[in-house]
Amino acid sequence: MSSTPATNRQIRFARHPEGMPDTECFTLETRPIEPLAEGQVRVRNHYLALDPYIRMRMEKKDSYAPVMALGDVLIGRTAGQVVESRAPGVAEGAWVVGRLGWQDYSTATPSELQSIDTAKAPASAYLGALGSTGVTAWVGLVHIGGVREGESVLVSAASGAVGSVVGQLARRKGCRVVGIAGGARKCGIVREKFGFDDCIDYKADDFLEKIGQAAGDGFDIYYDNVGGPIFDAALPLMRNFGRIPLCGLVSQYNATEPYGVKNMREVFNKRLTIRGFVISDHRDVFAAATSELEAAYADGDLVYEETIHDGLENAPASFVSMLQGGNVGKQLIRIVT
Ligand SMILES: NC(=O)c1ccc[n+]([C@@H]2O[C@H](COP(=O)([O-])OP(=O)(O)OC[C@H]3O[C@@H](n4cnc5c(N)ncnc54)[C@H](OP(=O)(O)O)[C@@H]3O)[C@@H](O)[C@H]2O)c1
Repeated sequence: MSSTPATNRQIRFARHPEGMPDTECFTLETRPIEPLAEGQVRVRNHYLALDPYIRMRMEKKDSYAPVMALGDVLIGRTAGQVVESRAPGVAEGAWVVGRLGWQDYSTATPSELQSIDTAKAPASAYLGALGSTGVTAWVGLVHIGGVREGESVLVSAASGAVGSVVGQLARRKGCRVVGIAGGARKCGIVREKFGFDDCIDYKADDFLEKIGQAAGDGFDIYYDNVGGPIFDAALPLMRNFGRIPLCGLVSQYNATEPYGVKNMREVFNKRLTIRGFVISDHRDVFAAATSELEAAYADGDLVYEETIHDGLENAPASFVSMLQGGNVGKQLIRIVT
């Protein structure tokens, strides 16, 4: 087990963004590491997950969760190893995940950590398909969307971390699945690697025509990760009584002018149900979600992609890249190389 060094590198929140953030919004600082108090553990972070929700925490106004203050260590989930423990029941060497921030080392209490089994899957997978990303996909599709065998499902940001899991879970349930992603390369990955029946490039000039053709006689579920014009385009393609689990609005997080939806009439005409959700409200189903994700992974029905950049210092640029579509699957930083 490596011993704890005297100092810790951390990325802190330096400036509120206007529109798309840039690397000036972040600062890399080195601070002394304090000794552990009784009941605390020290985690060496190996992987850091870069998630779109962090952009919402960079606003000046709270959303469903409080914003960060300038000077805070950036929030984010990590997977790492316990290197020092003063907490009974947490052994040095244990692998854990938690919301431990953009830093080399984190101090935590056991209640802030979940243990992971790196014999079953690599540690990084527990930040993606086998962690809260996978649970988000399951909660939206199964718990909120009420997916049923044989239904037709549309998924946006389909090559991304959540979207790629949604499509695979729906296929496993016997659904026909169409994805939407940016660019021909990503659409190829969605079809070939993630096994969607089809995937349409929303950046292509013929997007509306192609998505109309792919809809066939309509979608029962539209799993929305993006909002904006793609949400608008999906509304006329829904079947009567269709359901739209609204997982996120990544097309709007950097928008300086909010997009005005034009097809709201379809919500009434087709008697659609749109329901926003945040996974922290659904802890009661996490165990069911996790056991289905693990079973799908063990059966070979769930594969995942990761876009990994090395070095904590590169986290700000990678975060901006992810918001601009630079990732396939989960965007991660490998802190320990
Ligand atoms: N409700 C919850 O509890 C919860 C939990 C986790 C995540 N989420 C949400 O789930 C969504 C997906 O998150 P993720 O972690 O899986 O990220 P991700 O999909 O892996 O990465 C973000 C993707 O968004 C796409 N994108 C960016 N700008 C876009 C635009 N203007 N229009 C369409 N697509 C755009 C990009 O793909 P393209 O190249 O295809 O554009 C990019 O790769 C986000 O909205 C996130 O906030 C919600």
